[in-house]
Amino acid sequence: MAEDLTIVTGNKTAQYQSLIPQIIGLMEGETDLTANLANIAAALKEQFGWLWVGFYLVRSWENKQEELVVGPFQGPVACTRIRKGKGVCGTSWAEAITIIVPDVEKFPGHIACSSLSKSEIVVPVIRNNQVVAVLDADSATPDQFDATDQRYLEEIVNLIQF
Ligand code: SME
Repeated sequence: MAEDLTIVTGNKTAQYQSLIPQIIGLMEGETDLTANLANIAAALKEQFGWLWVGFYLVRSWENKQEELVVGPFQGPVACTRIRKGKGVCGTSWAEAITIIVPDVEKFPGHIACSSLSKSEIVVPVIRNNQVVAVLDADSATPDQFDATDQRYLEEIVNLIQF
């Protein structure tokens, strides 16, 4: 497909419904994980204009604990590593659930990579009953994310071949 993204206006559902087929098109025939994660982050950033959107990947080394390590993203530079159970991302990983944070200042242990971030959603990517990555989106607007974002972002992460 052409590499130009068609950006639509309208409600969230309309925006996701326009974006998802384009994301499928971007990944068609492409098996490289970095390439696919990079294009998904870019597509979400372009459509929604969030402050930060991208992936943290579960990484492990011999004799070392697993950690989340930042992967492809769009937005300001971010924390590189996050431990299991720490912050919103580490909690989503530990509990294998999507977490919506309407006000980051009210989330105990929130890791502030940017002081501009006001609300956040983190969606785990689960394969073979294990969390292999999380998708994190941060907004400069409070209360940006809701069940609609959860539904469609979960659909998007399920499209990725890990
Ligand atoms: N706020 C996240 C850290 C990642 S950055 O927002 C990109 C957290 O609390 O896990």
